[in-house]
Amino acid sequence: MIKEDKELVRKIKELKKKRNAIILAHNYQLPEVQDIADFRGDSLELSRIAAKTDAQVIVFCGVYFMAETASILSPDKKVIMPDTSAGCPMANMMSADDLRMLKQKHPQAVAVGYVNTSAEVKAELDYCCTSTNAVAVVNALKDKKEIIFIPDKYLADYVSKKSGRKLIIWNGFCPTHVKILPEDLKREKKFHPKAKIMVHPECLSSVVALADAVLSTSQMAKFAKESPAKEFIVGTEAGLVYRLKQDNPDKEFYPASERAVCPNMKRTTQEKVLWALEELKDEVKVPDEIRKKARLAIERMLAIV
Ligand code: 13P
Ligand code: SF4
Repeated sequence: MIKEDKELVRKIKELKKKRNAIILAHNYQLPEVQDIADFRGDSLELSRIAAKTDAQVIVFCGVYFMAETASILSPDKKVIMPDTSAGCPMANMMSADDLRMLKQKHPQAVAVGYVNTSAEVKAELDYCCTSTNAVAVVNALKDKKEIIFIPDKYLADYVSKKSGRKLIIWNGFCPTHVKILPEDLKREKKFHPKAKIMVHPECLSSVVALADAVLSTSQMAKFAKESPAKEFIVGTEAGLVYRLKQDNPDKEFYPASERAVCPNMKRTTQEKVLWALEELKDEVKVPDEIRKKARLAIERMLAIV
């Protein structure tokens, strides 16, 4: 690490203490951002930490819907994002009006939505879910005749296959995960025949079909740690490999595709974290009326899992 970086990290730590702040980072964040985080995790873990922290300020290093979720769960805390332009294209593929229209078309259906949605969309949901618990949430709805599952059609396909339920879906997808192709996995498997293939359920169905395990990002971290295997092909955003290598220095990790990089997840830098702490902005706040409704959908999810 060069000298200026050390000084930057020292300033961030000092200011973090002064502001009574915690830094949360998603598993896809740049290594330098993961390094200064108090917690790193997947969407579910970060929501849970946001819900129970005593810190006054949450510096959220991730994408916009994640910071919104933190604000929904901790309305009395100040949630700030070092770069609010970091959105999630999948979350932006469905508006609240789109969901209201879909619900009108299927008035008997219960609405389940991935956490990768805006607060306005969450406010229209009956249940929220994450990649960790999507199957469990749908399995818990055995008495419901019809289920809407939005916005990711590939996660929906995976959940439908695992639960045996037909789902009413939306045409959303993650532009980063669809870049991972079946031929990428086949090529990597040829080079590393002993490697276990882990993939995220946002991947194409043809990619999911080739996996040894279909997991959220933190579930991948756990799987890699606990598995006796020494090599892994990682079918998700390439940033996770940094954490996997750090946690398991004696194991090898091969990104399925170097193309699978989420540009929004790379917008946050150490400098921007420092500026956010200095200026206590940009704050992410959800209007009360929307927040209360969105919170219900998240709480119903947390009650199931
Ligand atoms: P995880 O909840 O598995 O970390 O996934 C979040 C996400 O945005 C994946 O692209
Ligand atoms: Fe959204 Fe995909 Fe980026 Fe995750 S990887 S934040 S789903 S665009």
